[in-house]
Amino acid sequence: MERDIQEVLLSEEQIQARIKELGEILTEEYRDKNPIILGVLKGVAIFYADMIRQIKVPCQMDFMCISSYKGTSSTGNTNIRLDLAADIRGRHVLILEDIYDTGNSLTYLVNYLKMKEPASLKICTLLDKPEGRKPGVTLKADYVGFTIPKAFVVGYGLDYNEAYRNLPYVGILKPEVYT
Ligand code: IMP
Ligand code: MG
Repeated sequence: MERDIQEVLLSEEQIQARIKELGEILTEEYRDKNPIILGVLKGVAIFYADMIRQIKVPCQMDFMCISSYKGTSSTGNTNIRLDLAADIRGRHVLILEDIYDTGNSLTYLVNYLKMKEPASLKICTLLDKPEGRKPGVTLKADYVGFTIPKAFVVGYGLDYNEAYRNLPYVGILKPEVYT
């Protein structure tokens, strides 16, 4: 195990098994809908690649990059660094996210995408950290891989100051690394 990791929260095997389960559900949900699967970069990159191969229907890939985080806390100041390429009007859109924490980014993103009038808009997040939610955020993810406790996690795409994204598991970062 990487020395900065306190505990492996989700192993490679656990993650892959859950992605297979979600894949079966999403395959049924999006059959004959030719969905646009929208990844929120960069944290989703690894999950996206694994998840999309388990959604066994024709689909279109697209990406956005939004940022609100500095270090281990959300700034609440969300901005779009990369906009989506597809025209989503009248299309079925599935957002893939790495983690749903305060809700700042997803709330912003959902409001932004709804203005473009998609036929449907759903959210699938690998991780949900409900205790991190900002008061007043009512948005719910439609599909959740794992609900996790309020800890700062890295790996499987998630970073701390851009490090640890390539760990194959999700682990809790030792607090002394960021304090
Ligand atoms: P939110 O806007 O606070 O819901 O946060 C969403 C984004 O914050 C995610 O897409 C992640 O990039 C980042 N984030 C939130 N919690 C963690 C964590 O525990 N580890 C790494 N990144 C996180
Ligand atoms: Mg991030």
